[in-house]
Amino acid sequence: MNKIEIALLGLGNVGTGVWEIFKNNKDEVTRRSGYEIEITKILVNDVDKDRGVNIPAGVLTTDIEEILNNDNIKIVVELLGGMHPAKDYMLRAIENSKHVVTANKQVMALEGKELLDKARKNGVLLYYEGSVAGGIPILKGIEESLTANKIEEIVGIINGTTNYILTKMSLENMDFKDALKEAQDKGYAEADPTSDVESYDAMYKLAILTSLSFGLDVDVENIYREGITKVSSLDIEYAKEFGYCIKLLAIAKEKNGTLELRVHPTMIPIAHPLANVNDSFNAILIKGNAVGDLMFYGRGAGSLPTGSAVVSDIISILRNDMTLRSISTVENKENSKQILKRDSYKSQYYLRISVKDMSGVLGEISTIWGKNKVSISSITQKGEKEGIVTLVIVTHDAIEGDIIKALDELEKLDSVYSLDNLIRVEKFE
Ligand code: HSE
Repeated sequence: MNKIEIALLGLGNVGTGVWEIFKNNKDEVTRRSGYEIEITKILVNDVDKDRGVNIPAGVLTTDIEEILNNDNIKIVVELLGGMHPAKDYMLRAIENSKHVVTANKQVMALEGKELLDKARKNGVLLYYEGSVAGGIPILKGIEESLTANKIEEIVGIINGTTNYILTKMSLENMDFKDALKEAQDKGYAEADPTSDVESYDAMYKLAILTSLSFGLDVDVENIYREGITKVSSLDIEYAKEFGYCIKLLAIAKEKNGTLELRVHPTMIPIAHPLANVNDSFNAILIKGNAVGDLMFYGRGAGSLPTGSAVVSDIISILRNDMTLRSISTVENKENSKQILKRDSYKSQYYLRISVKDMSGVLGEISTIWGKNKVSISSITQKGEKEGIVTLVIVTHDAIEGDIIKALDELEKLDSVYSLDNLIRVEKFE
């Protein structure tokens, strides 16, 4: 049996998952890869920190050079997260002819092209299954199993932390902060949870999915992004009254050569399969022109699920090493697609607005919607407090540019106290 040495960069949540999988599934990993794999070095900041795993003496190091300049180490597994120094270490590993596995969505979304080009030039592989949707084999699914298709649409719940928060707010009336704290304690959240709750994490993942599915390198600036921090218990309650729930959706749709890319809280019918994707689970719906609709469901975050994707990538590299026919050898050529501008999106919209409780207000508001070509599907008045009432308005399909213009005008009305939240409604018809 051939032996192979590998190194991990980082021994946090995912790193310890990877270590555990190598320990617990040693026989399977050996048989399926054809190699006896040994983790001989792990880069950490502090060798004395207790991480709840038993690492043999001499494996932990604080010196990256012990890894990058060690010719016996053939695969470097980057699990540091963040841009720096992760990207530089990956580049240097590739330059030193080492294969690289990473779970780093930020680096792959923002700098993936440079890294993949470099890997191709240096004849090594760069795999990154763990960067999107944790344990769900979505990248290999797209690149291998669905490669006969033109992908038309991807709609996904691809951030475990926000799904956990929205689930707890919706099913247990928990408040935002407590739910976030629980998600952090369970190891789902990023080091800085802003990346989760403001949807940067989901945006990076959508960029990676889009790049593989639609064959173009996506500039994340072209993805409309909105976080979940404005979603209140009131929105969740009113959504339920309409037969909807609120999920953070990442959406990529192609129509006539134009791509629509967006990540935002969305109201979806409670009968839709995505509405029942709860806690930290992720799910991705893909529409291919041959296969039709597919749904991938599973754990999108956490130590062992993400570790599962990472170890599988290591095994894939060892299987593919001889041929170099791999997902990282497929180069994007299709940069002719247009990206739809935000003001051209078409959707139904839910608006929660606080107004003065007096005669003529509804008339004023309706006039503004009408003037801006927005047709109202329903309008409901909620409880009065100190002369202010909440109006909940749901529109028919409208163009987002028209909605924005109407909101600008509404905001200027004396009778409007505040525009509280605007949420898109996806009916999946
Ligand atoms: N913070 C991420 C999430 C972890 O909550 O989904 C996996 O990328």
